[in-house]
Amino acid sequence: MNKRLRIDSTLECDLLIIGSGGAGLRCAVEVLESRPQSRIIAITKGLHPQKSHTSTAQGGLAAVDPKDPADKIIYHMFDTWKGSDCTADQNVVRKICQAAWEQILWLENRGMHFSRDQTGKLSKRTFGGHTLNFGESSAYRAVFEADRTGKGIMDTCWGESLKRNISFINQAIAVELLFKDDQCVGCIVFKQKEGEFIRILSRATVLATGGSGQVYKVTTNCRQNTGDGLALILQAGLPVMDPEAVQFHPTGIVGPGILASETLRSVGGILRNKDMDAFMEHYAPKMKELAPRDLVSRAIASEIRNGKGILNPDHNVEHIWIDLRHLSDAVHEKQIPEVTGFFRKYLNLDPKEELCPVHPSNHYQMGGIPTNVFGEVQDSTQKTVFGLYAVGECASASFHGFNRLGTNSILELITMGKFAGDRILAYLKDTPEKFPEAEGDISVARFSRYLESRGGDNIGQIRDEMRTLMTESVGIFRTDEGISKAIDVLKILRHRADHTALSAKSLRMNQELVQHWELDNLLAVSMVIAQAALYRRESRGAHFREDFPERKDEFNYHTLISMEQFGTVEFGSRDIDMSIYNEGGQFYDKFDVIERKY
Ligand code: FUM
Repeated sequence: MNKRLRIDSTLECDLLIIGSGGAGLRCAVEVLESRPQSRIIAITKGLHPQKSHTSTAQGGLAAVDPKDPADKIIYHMFDTWKGSDCTADQNVVRKICQAAWEQILWLENRGMHFSRDQTGKLSKRTFGGHTLNFGESSAYRAVFEADRTGKGIMDTCWGESLKRNISFINQAIAVELLFKDDQCVGCIVFKQKEGEFIRILSRATVLATGGSGQVYKVTTNCRQNTGDGLALILQAGLPVMDPEAVQFHPTGIVGPGILASETLRSVGGILRNKDMDAFMEHYAPKMKELAPRDLVSRAIASEIRNGKGILNPDHNVEHIWIDLRHLSDAVHEKQIPEVTGFFRKYLNLDPKEELCPVHPSNHYQMGGIPTNVFGEVQDSTQKTVFGLYAVGECASASFHGFNRLGTNSILELITMGKFAGDRILAYLKDTPEKFPEAEGDISVARFSRYLESRGGDNIGQIRDEMRTLMTESVGIFRTDEGISKAIDVLKILRHRADHTALSAKSLRMNQELVQHWELDNLLAVSMVIAQAALYRRESRGAHFREDFPERKDEFNYHTLISMEQFGTVEFGSRDIDMSIYNEGGQFYDKFDVIERKY
């Protein structure tokens, strides 16, 4: 082992938050509001918590306003269930939808600037798949802060965190979870700037590391979303759930793939192909542009496959248009100023006068670290792993099943952050204040290997090849042949990564070293996505198998997959919670395994 590598110091705390985005900070604030003496350490991979991916969320936050005469929580629950292609857990759907409005008030009471209409009431917009009266018409259910809602949430959670006692460690990555007698007791953290490993012993640990969008070539995700939380869980011998459920947002801006919010369609934007045909009416005659994302993304990809796309010469990418030219100046200026600004900035075009080129872009992972409705992590037998919690995009309680509705993600992160915080308060009360010793040596050995490995390959090149492979073979459309090829190639890429020398051998601020670690994480996540996609020989939500295009009842379960050795996986399953249906109350039949038409 490289002699320079050792764990330099040990810290102790009540609660360690790994990932300081909206979910992690909401959880921390919940704990500190009731137990201000708690010692909390929050680490973030980025330069600053405000750089977390939550900040980039645009369109809004779904919540039924109890004063709304038309909308009802049961409609939101139904839409989420139907949108999930009947794979969400109904106990989670109920708990989150019921808690939603209270969380809007929580944010507003702490200073979030939700947009308001001319009468002073909170403005609301509609999003794909959100309906009134079980699908009758669109529901105006999403509250928002212009088209930068995530920034408002981050500002609020960050502001609340600053008022309280949280120690932040920036530019730090969690490289190994620590366990003692089946209980999570903390983590080994690598501080990139100092080049130091620290052992953080904590009574409770929360994973809030965000998504894994960098698995794909074009994504709305930040550069830092490399599936780190999922990789940590796999490394610990625990399963991830439903990794094959990967969402592609219909409208990424051609080129960078940056999110062009669904708000554009909510305010009346129309998708057109190269013949100017508003093609969505052929795919979802009722909901058209406001059908759920899996359907709209597949429709766009089908148009392009059928020769109805337009080639963008700068990026050599085929796309379709979103037409915003007919929208009023007021809509352009008040409702969608950020997004239309992106088109001006990145493509030098004026959305008031010109058509905007868009293309599906990887956006969200519906699956993740399996948790119960309180954010407690579960093992492959659904037993709670004591002391370990997961919230936000890295987690899967499963509110979204196999397809997430727009505006349900920041609702989920804010509610699950709170629920986990409540659970942690009880846990801290009930567990003794002692810190079991735990060594943590896997990560140090792993970083030694990175520094010592030899070979002329290039980490960036391997990463690019992986992203192209996953996009082409395990993307919107999937087949047995394509996925099987991807699995073989991923093994080769992993072998190449293991035989790649770093050009700089320092520990401090060594980007290449961290990129090697990220590549390992991305390859691990890609492998479980591909293996789970191969195993699920049906189509469900965002997982579309061209060779098995129908949903099949025999697959009415959540996938659990573990991988202790790269490429060697073990499958299990978790039942889908059908409690609303099973209880047989009013409208129970809406929560059966229903047909999904829009
Ligand atoms: O389109 C959007 O504004 C994205 C919202 C979401 O993913 O929930």
